[in-house]
Amino acid sequence: MVKIAPSVLSANFANLQKDIDSIKDYVEYIHYDVMDGHFVPNISFGYSILNDLSQICDNYLDVHLMISDPLKYAQNFIDAGTNLITFHYEAMQNVDDIQYLITYLHEHHVDAGISIKPDTPVDVLLPFLDEIDLVLVMSVEPGFGGQSFMPLALDKIQQLKDLRHDRNYLIEVDGGINEETGKLCIDAGADVLVAGSYIFKADDRKQAIEALR
Ligand code: DX5
Ligand code: ZN
Repeated sequence: MVKIAPSVLSANFANLQKDIDSIKDYVEYIHYDVMDGHFVPNISFGYSILNDLSQICDNYLDVHLMISDPLKYAQNFIDAGTNLITFHYEAMQNVDDIQYLITYLHEHHVDAGISIKPDTPVDVLLPFLDEIDLVLVMSVEPGFGGQSFMPLALDKIQQLKDLRHDRNYLIEVDGGINEETGKLCIDAGADVLVAGSYIFKADDRKQAIEALR
């Protein structure tokens, strides 16, 4: 069954515990969007809030780094208790740095994910598909919640599914996911759906989550 990853970016930061309590029993992942105001034109939160969050839920913590220097901050997020770090392909300088970061995360018992923006083709990931645990397909330009789903993500999900064979990576999709677009992604082969505004703005969050599956 598809895994659901509510994006904390759409929660009320002044009531974070209440908002986490309202969803944590119904979902597998918690998606944590880190933005640095440089890689993307928005600033969200850093690793100290993640540390607090890790104390109040047992869900798999899915950190999505939308920052220019993932190598510099990876250890802080590891120390804060994450299970997965997904960094952006576009933020990395070269193949060696990407390889280094994947190995570093695995040595520290953290899963490694790579994300691609809407304009980045799936092919750039070919050298890393044997080793990574997850690919995050962006279905909006990263930076803000509440944007509309870009259908070009469906082709990428399909391609990644076709490329998987006996590899182990999961396919996650992020941006503009609701009941309708979520179904399209599941049909294309997505294993994990990230949803922010759709879940946190719903009157009945449990029902909204179940409607995504
Ligand atoms: C966008 C973030 C997303 C965002 C999704 O840059 O990576 O995780 O929170 O929000 P919705 O589901 O509202 O598009
Ligand atoms: Zn995200």
